[in-house]
Amino acid sequence: MVGLIDVPRVRADFPILSRKLPNGKSLVYLDNAATTQKPVQVIEALSDYYRSYNANAHRGLHALSAEATDAYESARKKAAAFIGASARETVFTRGTTESLNLIAYSWALANLRKGDVIVLSQMEHHSNIVPWQFVAGQTGAVLRFIPITPEGRLDLASLDSLLSCAKLVSVTHASNVLGTINDVAAISRRAHEAGALVVVDAAQSAPHLPVDVSSLGCDFLAFSSHKMLGPMGVGVLWGKRELLDSMRPFNYGGEMIREVSFESSTFVEPPLKFEAGTGNVGDAIAFGVALDYLSEIGGLGAVREHEKQLLALMLESLDSLGAVVFGPSDVHERAGVVSFNLPGVHGHDVASVLDGEGVAIRSGHHCAMPLMRALGVAATARASPYVYNSLDEVDYFIASLKKVKRVFGSGGL
Ligand SMILES: Cc1ncc(COP(=O)(O)O)c(C=O)c1O
Repeated sequence: MVGLIDVPRVRADFPILSRKLPNGKSLVYLDNAATTQKPVQVIEALSDYYRSYNANAHRGLHALSAEATDAYESARKKAAAFIGASARETVFTRGTTESLNLIAYSWALANLRKGDVIVLSQMEHHSNIVPWQFVAGQTGAVLRFIPITPEGRLDLASLDSLLSCAKLVSVTHASNVLGTINDVAAISRRAHEAGALVVVDAAQSAPHLPVDVSSLGCDFLAFSSHKMLGPMGVGVLWGKRELLDSMRPFNYGGEMIREVSFESSTFVEPPLKFEAGTGNVGDAIAFGVALDYLSEIGGLGAVREHEKQLLALMLESLDSLGAVVFGPSDVHERAGVVSFNLPGVHGHDVASVLDGEGVAIRSGHHCAMPLMRALGVAATARASPYVYNSLDEVDYFIASLKKVKRVFGSGGL
């Protein structure tokens, strides 16, 4: 048991964690910022949907369709409650990327003009940069970036000047590289004073800490199921009701219409206005089960406490190994991500030696090439724990890093 989470009990729910790798090693999965593993409850929910009540939601009058619709809408209520929102304001998408694109296409293209400013930060994932570059190219809007400090925090000293003429601020709640948890509530306050709307990329915060849209004070928030024990291919866009009401649809087609003639169409209200075509019904239902699971193992408060213990051990051990760790050193300021480099060893070499030991981590630019440039590195290695990781696994990860040092004889590590 670590903190409030009963790790052995939790691990028993994840079949993949007991498999052997092709080289005979046990799996130590520390690539949770990329995607998490799924508990048997989620796998069974998905299987049960296809075995027992697969049907198109919102379409049929038959019993299966009614069951599928009820389960789909119940999952929406769970996703909404998870972030302190209402189901009416909670749109199912394919994930964070699609949620951000939805805002770009449906809100930004219609509302931004030449010279308007979109404020991002230097620590954004490509998903929260590239759609805005597209919008800027289409509208003549200008992108500005909140810089980062040497410790990997957002440098908010220049925020007020960056906010001049800003119509939109889109920032990550927690960095997928630095782990930094940003003070989104403060950013929202200042952005609103300047007349800008606020989008929050919660892909790396919703899985790891309590997230409440009212406390954050934002206008839109996006996150992905697969980073929090749920299936791939489903995620959430939350938006304030009046904004969603005012926005044009993202995709056009079946299910989002009220009335269609040969000449024109009218649309239903959000959230279905933004869910054209057959939805990802089974995955959304299984996502709801993942959210139930997170609450059954103690809720996001317990998840956070558990991760802080793992992070503290990781940071301390990496420091004693002489690794360069990116991001704040205080675990209270960071979510479940630790990027590091061993002097003289490329991140890919670190990851590949660790792979030989059964330890799965990520290396590379982590879909944050501009941030890599700001940090002055080409790549980092990244370890990201989650609810099923133990302190023993962190020790094994560190022992495996010592092997990297022996293999590469790096810098006297
Ligand atoms: C901070 C952040 N934003 C956005 C994304 C994109 O999420 P998805 O690929 O689930 O759409 C990721 C995924 O790694 C992320 O870490």
